[in-house]
Amino acid sequence: MNIPANVEITLRELAAADGTLNVYLYDTAPMREKIAHLADIMPAGVEVFYAMKANPHAAFLAAAFEAGAKGIEIASLGEAEKAVAAGFSPSQLIYTGPGKSEEELRWGVARGIRTIHIESLTEAHRLHAICTKMGKTQDVLLRINADFDIHEAQTTFSGGSKKFGVDEEKLGNILPQILALDSLHFRGLHVYAASGVLNVDDLLKNCELVFGMARTIEATYPGVQCDTIDFGGGFGVDYLEEGHDFNPEAYAHGLSRLIEEYGFAGRTFFLELGRYLAADSGWFCTEILDIKDSRGKKQVICAGGINHFRRPAALAINHPLSILRMEVPPLFAGQEAVRREAVYFGGPLCTGADKLANNEFVDAADVGDIAVFGLAGAYGLSMSNVEFLSHERPQEIVLV
Ligand SMILES: Cc1ncc(COP(=O)(O)O)c(C=O)c1O
Repeated sequence: MNIPANVEITLRELAAADGTLNVYLYDTAPMREKIAHLADIMPAGVEVFYAMKANPHAAFLAAAFEAGAKGIEIASLGEAEKAVAAGFSPSQLIYTGPGKSEEELRWGVARGIRTIHIESLTEAHRLHAICTKMGKTQDVLLRINADFDIHEAQTTFSGGSKKFGVDEEKLGNILPQILALDSLHFRGLHVYAASGVLNVDDLLKNCELVFGMARTIEATYPGVQCDTIDFGGGFGVDYLEEGHDFNPEAYAHGLSRLIEEYGFAGRTFFLELGRYLAADSGWFCTEILDIKDSRGKKQVICAGGINHFRRPAALAINHPLSILRMEVPPLFAGQEAVRREAVYFGGPLCTGADKLANNEFVDAADVGDIAVFGLAGAYGLSMSNVEFLSHERPQEIVLV
């Protein structure tokens, strides 16, 4: 990975000041370009929402807003409040995720959010009771745990036993019960297969599967239409830098073909993208505090660990890494360094699980250099264990 010039300049400025360097740098230009590009290439009816769980920082919400994202996919009241503070109207919010509380659902109904995605029969009844009490109706999508999974995906959201949605094979029992709840206005389906998918065909297979379900539902329940279909997120990014970037043009082309094949023109299709939009707009940059050999393998200890950047350890995947050389004089003769070898990177936490990179080949690194992890704009600080060991939070700096 090349360190972009604006990232390097800022890091050198920060390093010149006193204190240990440990910072997320954000430049949301890539995210803005991607949102605009997707709007250009996707078939009519496709609406792109930003899944803000990827990065809830105000700069990312502002980027989504200014670049014209259709809205925000939220999964909590806290996310809803941040999205509204960023300028989105409640009618631009779609609400997914298991375990929505009474207060959260009440907020959604009262504020008139666009759709609530039902994850279980209990949730449908809870929402119906709230709507009835308020004298309101609410547009809903039913989330389905399809009997389909993408094996190679980093995280799967359907197939097997899952906490997401209702099992596909129970649809015949559950859907009529939901349709009978007269304060819920059934608009269609939500089927999200997996996150971090690089193979376009795998995601298109999921689209085709949902289209088939919609067709069956419409044939089985006269008068019921799935006019909105949500494919979830899942567009991947090439963490291993193997040249396998997700190809949005191929996806758009394949989806367009499916829409035509199924006669689904005129319907609405949601994409809730997190990683693909946000990942390459952020870098986690952390100072190397120590390097030591332990039984033949170098251990590189950085200022921040999984308390600030948990994703590589949680998903056992290395992010692109570059070392910014700072030419800091050694503290003593013989201080250890890394020279053309595969090493471990970790942070200051008292657990062996504190790994930032496993067996990463590095040309050269010394104490005082800065490890710069790329593709850290998505699922960086927001999915980290910030309270563990009570270290100071990393700074978050938005580059202009
Ligand atoms: C319901 C839902 N939508 C969208 C996303 C975003 O997924 P991705 O970052 O893979 O695009 C997630 C991620 O967990 C999710 O749970």
